[in-house]
Amino acid sequence: MFSSRLPAALEPNDFTRILQAKKAAGAKILDLTQSNPTHAGFSYDFLQRDGICTRIRGRYEPSAQGMQSAREAIGRYYLENGHGRIAGDDLFLTASTSEAYSFLLKLLTEPGDEVLLPAPSYPLFDFLANLESVTPVRYALQLEESGHWRIDFKSLEMMISSLTRAIVVVSPNNPTGSYMTAEELSLLNQLCTTHEIALIVDEVFLDYIKSGSLKKTFSAISNNDALTFTLSGFSKILALPQAKLSWIHVGGPEPIKEGAKHRLEFIADTYLSVSSMIQQATAPLLGVQQDIQQQILARIEVNERALKSWTDLEHCPDTCHREGGWYAILELPGEITDEECCLELLEQHSLIVHPGFFYDFAENNRIVISLICPEKEFGQGLAILQGYLDSRSPK
Ligand SMILES: Cc1ncc(COP(=O)(O)O)c(C=O)c1O
Repeated sequence: MFSSRLPAALEPNDFTRILQAKKAAGAKILDLTQSNPTHAGFSYDFLQRDGICTRIRGRYEPSAQGMQSAREAIGRYYLENGHGRIAGDDLFLTASTSEAYSFLLKLLTEPGDEVLLPAPSYPLFDFLANLESVTPVRYALQLEESGHWRIDFKSLEMMISSLTRAIVVVSPNNPTGSYMTAEELSLLNQLCTTHEIALIVDEVFLDYIKSGSLKKTFSAISNNDALTFTLSGFSKILALPQAKLSWIHVGGPEPIKEGAKHRLEFIADTYLSVSSMIQQATAPLLGVQQDIQQQILARIEVNERALKSWTDLEHCPDTCHREGGWYAILELPGEITDEECCLELLEQHSLIVHPGFFYDFAENNRIVISLICPEKEFGQGLAILQGYLDSRSPK
């Protein structure tokens, strides 16, 4: 009776079952993966400032692409952050980045087509693809000796088939924190042009470059060499996932770009999913982005420093190099696997960390934690992790 686009089994896995039982028993859970900024003790006083009002106007003026004033404000965000000038007319507002993916997969694919996704990366992609009857195919990111995660172009080219419709790049990637380089973009443009496929660049973490980094990051908004869709939104830029405002910027050569915009307009007009209230608040909210971003960057810096002094200790994991984003990857010492580590930490110590397999790491000895956890909990979580690793290390 139900669609095969849904997972065959929706029952909770072992991890969720243990967590539910712990919560039901009233256990105090420490969550080292907390990445919901609204649960992480940041000050949202900036929402009280003048001009950030959410009024419902008496007259509803539906607009498929979204209100012009909101799109112009997003254009200013890119300009003021040094990423160049865009036309508000090339933007389409959506309720979330996930919805933006669903619009793009409707635009670009037939059922059974394929979309190329990085591995390791954001775990929701498989569901987003499957719900559009599209097959997710993974290409590899490789950890280079320099400590940087880079696209493995051999793996990427091998995965391109006659069914491939798009390549997704996440910059900076969740959880590796790696930014797309100009050289990578140039190779991606060549591949997309040769195979007539689109490039989708997810930049939700773009602003969270590692403090003190001299690296010059860039947005894909000015890429016109291949049909390019650049995604971002308020869930990370303003740490307001509840605001439900994201967008797609369309770039690329004509006439394919105009063809894409026409069709996207049809899709967006069918749903009209973005609330007028948030569109009216878009410009004033973007005006105070620094307020929350500075708090988050400061938190990440403090937690990363604590992590660095901790990983220098005996029996502690190595961390992978991070260029940006909100996450840290830990390499477990010895023979401990990510799965047993996560289950044992939860069962024995009520501590949550994410196993690498959530993100499709090739190796089974990596775990992922969030760097935006409140500092005190972060320190407590690391101490528990250390006790666990000590107990597992050969005497
Ligand atoms: C790489 C990436 N893209 C998209 C999203 C989801 O964004 P949204 O809340 O706008 O759907 C996330 C959420 O963490 C993410 O990590």
